[in-house]
Amino acid sequence: MGAPGASYGPTRDERKKVTAMDILSRKRGEKIVSVTAYDYPTAKLVDSAGIDIVLVGDSLGMVVLGYPDTTRVTMDDMVHHTAAVARARPKALVVADLPFLAAGVSVRDTIGNAGRLVREAGAEAVKLEGGVRIREEIRALVDCQIPVMGHVGLTPQSIHAFGGFKVQGRTQEAAERVLRDAIAVQEGGAFAVVLEGIPSRLGERITRELDIPTIGIGAGPGCDGQVLVIHDILRLFSDFTPKFAKFYADVGGVTSTALINFREEVRDGRFPAAEHCY
Ligand code: KIV
Repeated sequence: MGAPGASYGPTRDERKKVTAMDILSRKRGEKIVSVTAYDYPTAKLVDSAGIDIVLVGDSLGMVVLGYPDTTRVTMDDMVHHTAAVARARPKALVVADLPFLAAGVSVRDTIGNAGRLVREAGAEAVKLEGGVRIREEIRALVDCQIPVMGHVGLTPQSIHAFGGFKVQGRTQEAAERVLRDAIAVQEGGAFAVVLEGIPSRLGERITRELDIPTIGIGAGPGCDGQVLVIHDILRLFSDFTPKFAKFYADVGGVTSTALINFREEVRDGRFPAAEHCY
């Protein structure tokens, strides 16, 4: 039997390292696939599946740290988790989120915070939420040689301003606003932009109008790529399931069954067995 992955492509070590420039060149090419990871073993699994971008998203605040939204995630949280992912030395591009208020306040702070993600944690690109408002910050990061991925539409760090996790761009005026944000991200020099929580037709339109790839999450099939949170793919998080999430495996269910079996075996004396003893 071959090594895992041998039947569908090169093994992890034969894959070429993915760079921000590679992602940029995939506009209208092969679809880009991105998945989140927040720790070393998950980053290894994501990478061995041939995923293009491993995103250390600030969704970690909800799916790992148990916060109700992403606004409580700190720079220290992001550095800690990004460093764990980077230690897996993935071929996938490592992109780390700038959390709430780590960008968008001043250019100087944004550069300092992005610098920490690159220098202390090993990120190869950073992601920022916002459009027109942060165009100059994106430009400043790109000038400092830090590749940037944008994020517009339903930007979760704006949850209080939006009044909840609400789909954006539903009216003509709101759609134009999301489009202007995406264009600003491109003008700032970003190599790609995440489109989150917008109608599919708007996702398709923005993808058509931009020269950089769009990576959708709840933005329809017309984007240049798709990203999902790994806890949604594996059914590991049940507090909140967005419409765009798709379960590919019930790892949460398998884990529960395994833990119940362990409990029962300890209680009735079947574990440890002879083979587990010295
Ligand atoms: O934080 C995150 O995981 C994200 C993705 C869902 C795009 O921003």
